[in-house]
Amino acid sequence: MSKAYEEFDHLETERLTLRPFTEADYPLILRISSDPQTTEYLYYWGRIGTTPESDARRFLDYAVKNWKKSPIRAREFCLVLKDTGEAIGDGSVEWVESEPGTAEIGWILLPEYRGKGFATEAGRELMRAAFEIMGADTVIAHCDSRNRPSRNVMERLGMTLRGIEPEARPAKRLGEKNGDECTYVLTK
Ligand SMILES: CC(C)(COP(=O)(O)OP(=O)(O)OC[C@H]1O[C@@H](n2cnc3c(N)ncnc32)[C@H](O)[C@@H]1OP(=O)(O)O)[C@@H](O)C(=O)NCCC(=O)NCCS
Repeated sequence: MSKAYEEFDHLETERLTLRPFTEADYPLILRISSDPQTTEYLYYWGRIGTTPESDARRFLDYAVKNWKKSPIRAREFCLVLKDTGEAIGDGSVEWVESEPGTAEIGWILLPEYRGKGFATEAGRELMRAAFEIMGADTVIAHCDSRNRPSRNVMERLGMTLRGIEPEARPAKRLGEKNGDECTYVLTK
């Protein structure tokens, strides 16, 4: 593993530590996957044929497996409050295979930790990691166009709306329309 990538083991912000997931984080992931409001706009969660348990298992296996891969393609970070040690959500950064030099970032918080700036704080550090550790020249973030809280995070991070692709996000439930997908971008 390149030396620079070792820095991924030491990401932190003023109030948060961003650390690898372990099996002990299963309850946090299960809480995320069990809450329909949290997963409403996350199309890998809560799809037909899955259960909260199967989604949590799939996510945790993916997060742990990717941490060991070299070179890095994707990393999921458990967001932990420095003050109390509580695990409060997920932050992610990954290379976009179809766009060389571009990394994508993302975030999920448990409901009771929203409205305190934690996603923006983590997002800023994920963006720094994408530019400085991974060497990306562009950082993007995607979300369903109706996901105003996530769009607000992107805007607070200084990202600008690159476009909205109609019906690009697969519907999770039968009979529902696909969601429109926003892409926000920031170049180095
Ligand atoms: C998307 C999501 C992470 C955004 O969470 P959030 O709490 O709104 O975002 P932040 O943590 O950055 O908090 C920002 C809010 O905290 C407020 N705030 C309070 N203290 C703050 C501080 N010290 N610093 C910055 N903001 C602060 C801000 O004013 C803002 O409030 P507002 O939304 O009323 O304007 C959350 O809604 C979520 O987990 N959704 C479900 C999962 C999801 O959809 N993820 C995105 C997938 S693309």
